[in-house]
Amino acid sequence: MISADFAPNESSSDAYAALLMLVRPWRWRKGKAIGRLKQKLKRIFGPYEVFLYLTGRAALYRVLQALSLAENSEVAVQGFTCEAVVLPLIELKLKPLYIDIEPQTFSMDIEDLKRKITPQTKVLVLQHTFGMLPKNREKILAFAKERDLLVIEDLAHGFYSFSSKTIDTKPQRSILLLSFGRSKSLSSVFGGAILSADEMVNKKLKEVEKASSYPSATFVWKALWYKPMAFFIKKTYDVYLGKVVHAVLNILQVVPREVSPIEKRGEFDPIFIKAYPNALAHLLLNQFKQFDQINANRLYAVSQYKSHFFKNKETSKPEPLIRFPLLSQDREKVIVTAKRKNLFIGRWYDQVVGPKELPLEKLGYQTGSCPVAENICSKILNLPTTVSQKEAERVLDIVALEAS
Ligand SMILES: Cc1ncc(COP(=O)(O)O)c(C=O)c1O
Repeated sequence: MISADFAPNESSSDAYAALLMLVRPWRWRKGKAIGRLKQKLKRIFGPYEVFLYLTGRAALYRVLQALSLAENSEVAVQGFTCEAVVLPLIELKLKPLYIDIEPQTFSMDIEDLKRKITPQTKVLVLQHTFGMLPKNREKILAFAKERDLLVIEDLAHGFYSFSSKTIDTKPQRSILLLSFGRSKSLSSVFGGAILSADEMVNKKLKEVEKASSYPSATFVWKALWYKPMAFFIKKTYDVYLGKVVHAVLNILQVVPREVSPIEKRGEFDPIFIKAYPNALAHLLLNQFKQFDQINANRLYAVSQYKSHFFKNKETSKPEPLIRFPLLSQDREKVIVTAKRKNLFIGRWYDQVVGPKELPLEKLGYQTGSCPVAENICSKILNLPTTVSQKEAERVLDIVALEAS
């Protein structure tokens, strides 16, 4: 099985780390891994204060709450995003201001931002889609400064280009949002962080941190089991065993879903607004040990896909993206054909606020207001990049004809 969605990051070493943690329940909530992880993130990103949460959406919720914005203040988000970005701000009685995207890096279009911004717009979420540096990042940061907007750079999909220091990443310029969900750049099954150098925000986040509750022991137990189970399922999927186990576990709902049924109805789910347990920090530190190898694999896959699909076109240098976006007129056929060969292609995002089931009217999106994003949503598919070299070649063999 090769999948963009299902446990792309899990290795035997992650499964082993999780099994060791499963038999040490006294270290699930508190322990040294939290401090070590904070230090690690500071080494990568610089002198920010680091706040950890159970999810990226909890991180976003807490930081928006700390800003104490007036009711109905607008938060500019791009119209090619997911529920985890939009639901926290609606819950806090803020309004999403949907900005269209540019088709090169699938990030905010500065011209549309300039057209739509109002005096009520106070915050801007600058999304690094698939881990790409937004094409207009510098211009957007400069514009935000001119208009006194607070920028949250959403690095949930990845931060390779951001942290490789080829750009100006001065801490005071923006607040950073990270996610360590199971389909992200690094996975501890659930996880998120805010990195901030804003003293007022940090003071408030510290107050909330003290009062935050942890997820239940059952929740942590399920998250820990996910790693060995996912590894087993992936390894045995092609001989049917994994397929059966996967189906059974789904029916039994052994692992909490990435998007809960409440969220799929377009409602905020407080179950994810919790503190980050030490057990998950331990898993994330283990992923960091493999990060160079993971990125080398991603880089290889992206280079292969780029040279195949964009042979004669001028493109940017390959980056280790978490998924490789491709537009196809015949998306459903490509996805169905690939699925028959146990290749699971992703659909980020097949709706301006994904996943597809979400009722957009509840999220304040007006159809037609982000035409570029809507068009891309109708054609996009994502090839998996967290794969071995052999797997990347297999992906190309399967997809090449249908998608071209
Ligand atoms: C662009 C973006 N930002 C933030 C998040 C929030 O991450 P989490 O799933 O950890 O809540 C996601 C999740 O998918 C995302 O896609």
